[in-house]
Order: sequence, then structure tokens, then C-alpha cells
Amino acid sequence: MRSILLLNAKGGCGKTTMATTIAAYYALKGKKVVLADFDPQGSSMDWLAVRPVDRPRIQGLAAWQNQVRVPKTTDYLIIDSPAAVSGRPLANLVQRADSILIPVLPSPIDIRAAEHFIGQLNALRSVLNTQVKLATVANRVRENTLAAGELDGYLEMIKLPSGKKTPYLAMLRASQNYIRAAEMGLSIFEFSPARTQHDRESWTRVFRWLDSKRSLPTPKN
Ligand SMILES: Nc1ncnc2c1ncn2[C@@H]1O[C@H](COP(=O)(O)OP(=O)(O)OP(=O)(O)O)[C@@H](O)[C@H]1O
Ligand SMILES: [Mg+2]
Repeated sequence: MRSILLLNAKGGCGKTTMATTIAAYYALKGKKVVLADFDPQGSSMDWLAVRPVDRPRIQGLAAWQNQVRVPKTTDYLIIDSPAAVSGRPLANLVQRADSILIPVLPSPIDIRAAEHFIGQLNALRSVLNTQVKLATVANRVRENTLAAGELDGYLEMIKLPSGKKTPYLAMLRASQNYIRAAEMGLSIFEFSPARTQHDRESWTRVFRWLDSKRSLPTPKN
């Protein structure tokens, strides 16, 4: 089973949007997907509650209130997390994950905060002795807020303790498609390709990373 955690201490950066999009993407591919919501706001569970019954099934787990029991046959566990998570709950989440995706809003303040948070995560990784992999994704990028090149520059500068860069995978634009999908219990991959082509393409590198060994923990010796 692959487990993918959407994480950032910052609220409203796109954790739920990305968690539901990724869950639907793999469900559409015929995978058995569990969406575990650790946020007491329950936004991922709300999304599942309005998901049309004729769409590929995703099993929901209200993980903030119930014990997490993931069926053995699960292919993908997608974990949505609350904002401002720290301490023991943060360690708990990190320990469950193979791969962590960090959505970052395209402002200098958010990027600096993300850099800080990644520093914290790296410290936690060594304390927990886990080889979980991290990557960033810029989300809700508007054409004329921060120049694309400038944003790339910022996110690419975030380094791991080894001195290597934290992979920066994609820039998702601000799009009504995500807002409509959220309302309807759907994902952009369930709208017409013509209408969502631009958005679909921006996810290519995210899934390429998730489907590669680069996003898997390095085996311990
Ligand atoms: N790429 C996008 N384009 C347009 N709207 C977006 C995009 N990503 C997220 N949103 C919207 O921004 C708001 C916040 O996104 P979301 O709920 O995914 O963030 P979050 O990190 O889960 O927030 P919280 O910390 O409150 O759980 C939502 O209304 C969502 O529909
Ligand atoms: Mg959320």
C-alpha cells in the first residue's frame, strides 16, 4: 500500500483539494483508495458525502474521531491533515506516510513559512528515523501575482539537510474547476478534458513523482 500525506502547517493552502484530487485520480484508475481525514473540520469527508454514487468508489475514514483501520486490500491511502498541526499529532501523521506533498501558496510569506516547516519536518524525520520523502507543489497560482520564474526560484531553493533540493513538482493555477469539483464531490479528472486540459497537464509531474521510486522511503540498511 502506498500512503500519501498532504501536509502544511498553513491553513487554506490546498491540502484538501489535493487530497481529494489524488484520491479520485487513483480511484479512476481502478485502484482501491482510502481517504483518511485527520482534520476535525472534516472537509474531505464532506466532499465524499456529496460524491455521486456512480463515480469510482473511495472509502472514507473520519480519522480525527475514529481509530484508523485501513483494509489490507487498500492500494492507496491518501491522508488529509489539519492546519497548524505540530508535536505528537504531527509525528503520528509523518509516521504513517511514504510520501508527503506540501501545497504552498505563491506568496513570499507562505514560501518562507513552508521553508520553515520543511526544516521542522526534516528534524522530525531524523528523530523518528523515517525516510519519508517530501515534495512541494505551488497552488492557486494566478497569472499576475508572482512571476512564474520567481516562484520557481523560491521553491527550488528549499534544501534538504543533505544539501539536495526538496523536489518542487508543479504549479497548479487558481481555477474555478477546483472549486466546482469540491462542491460536487468530483475531481478535475472527472470533468471534460477540453475544459480541464490545462489543469490536468499541471498534475503530470506530481503523478510521475508519486508513481516513481523517488517518492518512496529509502530502505534502511
Ligand atoms: N488551485 C485552486 N484554484 C482555486 N481554488 C482553490 C485551489 N486550491 C484550493 N482552492 C480553494 O481554496 C480554498 C482552500 O483550499 P483547501 O480547502 O483545499 O485548503 P486546505 O489546506 O485543506 O485548508 P484547511 O487548512 O482549512 O484544511 C477552498 O475553498 C478551495 O476550493
Ligand atoms: Mg483542509
